[in-house]
Amino acid sequence: MCGILGCISNEDIVPMLLNGIKRLEYRGYDSWGLAVVEDKIKLIKNVGNINEECLNRLELKGSTGIAHTRWATHGGVTRENAHPHTSCGEEIAIVHNGIIENFQEIKRSLLAEGHKFMSQTDSEVIAHLLEKYYNKFKDIKKAILATVKRIKGNFAFLAIFQKDSDMIVGARKDSPLVIGIGKNKIFLASDVLSFIEHTDKVIFLDNLEVVIAKKDLLKIFDFKGKEVQKSVTQVAWEAYDVSKKEFSHYTLKEIYEQTNTLKSSLCQDQIKLNEFCNSIKSAKKLFITASGTSFHAGLLAKYLFSKISKVYCEAVLASEFNQIIEWVDKDTIILAISQSGETADVLDAVKKAKEKGAKILSIVNVVGSNLDRESHLTLYLNCGPEIGVAATKSFTSQLALIYFLAFTMINEYIGINKLKRLNECIDLIFKQKDKIVEIAEKYKNSNDFYFIGRSIHYPIALEGALKLKELSYIHAEGMAAGELKHGTLALIDIGTPVVVLNPKDQTYCDTLSNALEMKARGAKIIGISNLNNDVYDDLILLPEIDELFYPVIEVIPLQMLAYYLAINRGADVDKPRNLAKSVTVK
Ligand code: M6R
Repeated sequence: MCGILGCISNEDIVPMLLNGIKRLEYRGYDSWGLAVVEDKIKLIKNVGNINEECLNRLELKGSTGIAHTRWATHGGVTRENAHPHTSCGEEIAIVHNGIIENFQEIKRSLLAEGHKFMSQTDSEVIAHLLEKYYNKFKDIKKAILATVKRIKGNFAFLAIFQKDSDMIVGARKDSPLVIGIGKNKIFLASDVLSFIEHTDKVIFLDNLEVVIAKKDLLKIFDFKGKEVQKSVTQVAWEAYDVSKKEFSHYTLKEIYEQTNTLKSSLCQDQIKLNEFCNSIKSAKKLFITASGTSFHAGLLAKYLFSKISKVYCEAVLASEFNQIIEWVDKDTIILAISQSGETADVLDAVKKAKEKGAKILSIVNVVGSNLDRESHLTLYLNCGPEIGVAATKSFTSQLALIYFLAFTMINEYIGINKLKRLNECIDLIFKQKDKIVEIAEKYKNSNDFYFIGRSIHYPIALEGALKLKELSYIHAEGMAAGELKHGTLALIDIGTPVVVLNPKDQTYCDTLSNALEMKARGAKIIGISNLNNDVYDDLILLPEIDELFYPVIEVIPLQMLAYYLAINRGADVDKPRNLAKSVTVK
């Protein structure tokens, strides 16, 4: 996934572009670039994080421009492959987010026509196609429509033209593109976040739409060229607060935000919530689908819907959804869970299910995202932008909303007292920071970690392991505690750290036996429990809460442990290597 941003204004837009794409680095951060058009197109690109110094040296200025932050998919991380890409005559520059699936075939035919390519990317074909069709039609609208007709895959792109220095054109198919209408400024971007301090007035472009933007004109067309009228939405500024505040990393800030975000995730429109619950309850077949951390929330939803609401469902990894597609029909409800609403596997699963007539319910954080727009009904997490690549606050917000649904289905409500207690418990866990830092110091040189839990603690064991892997790069495995003896026990050695999720509920004794078994084989046991026991070498004490709610609070020390282990190992916490915040490729 990449981030794109364009701006037209009366003033120099380079600082705005630069700040804007810094905000989009959560979408990709291996290289970046920007281009402005005055009498000519001038551009700068670089490998690595966005670097202001470099720009100052170049003294790039202009009032129309486009910018890009890249996550490499086609072509390595090199300056040549960084965007913007230009046409042969450098009279057109483009930035692109997505994948052009048929780029090889297009590139071959353009090469045969004499076009010269400078990069190994799929994106560059867009610049050459625009050049080809602009030369042919001498009309920008015709050129862009011919271009989108020719390319397959998913894309959002922006282009500037030397011939018209106050214009940006764009198009989208299956990748987001939003327009910000500011005072004397127009923005086109992957995400509102990139321009929110300049305007809160937004037009969400729909799939298969193109836009031609000038200082004093904004036209939107469908891919057949028919003009479409769009309404302007006013978005809430607070929902896009992206300051790091006093925290050293976004990830840490987001961990500490969880007492507030739990509250906001429960602020739901009652009518929508009831409709959501009724659909789930009346479903003949119910499948939950998601990826990564959101899948762990989905797995817990399966347990809670069954335990609390007496609703049976299956949780299916979005990347595996195709394997069960034959069971999906018009009587099926799909519950898709995604922070970004842009995960390619989730979108693919949802589209296929829709084709079979299923109704799509979704739980999403990013309003206006593709999943939101593909769904028949969406509930929002309302947890604000999550910038750290590792999902933290979005996970607990997903959990809170899932509990809310499970109880609403049986006409019970998570009242203010329950929420207050959850927040008190989380605060009590934050107070154990020194203990968690000490554990992180003790195990910083471990090569393998195991996380175990039964029943509703099993999804949290999976989540604890995922957090540790992605933040600290330590190998970790999360598993159902009962599965240990079926193989993993062979890996337990002297000093192997095992995190045991074991609050006092009906799983307590069995999980304790598993902890003892591992201890007998030399493991170091880190207990996450409200009850101390000699088996634990270290204990993070869970405050008392109704036992069904332990998953929401027990994940907090796991997030903190992963964070401090990552810090001890010098990892880039907010931007773990090789990972992008939203995975928009399959
Ligand atoms: O935006 P989504 O919730 O759909 O993202 C799904 C996964 O890519 C995501 O949860 C990923 O596993 C996180 N980096 C985990 O922290």
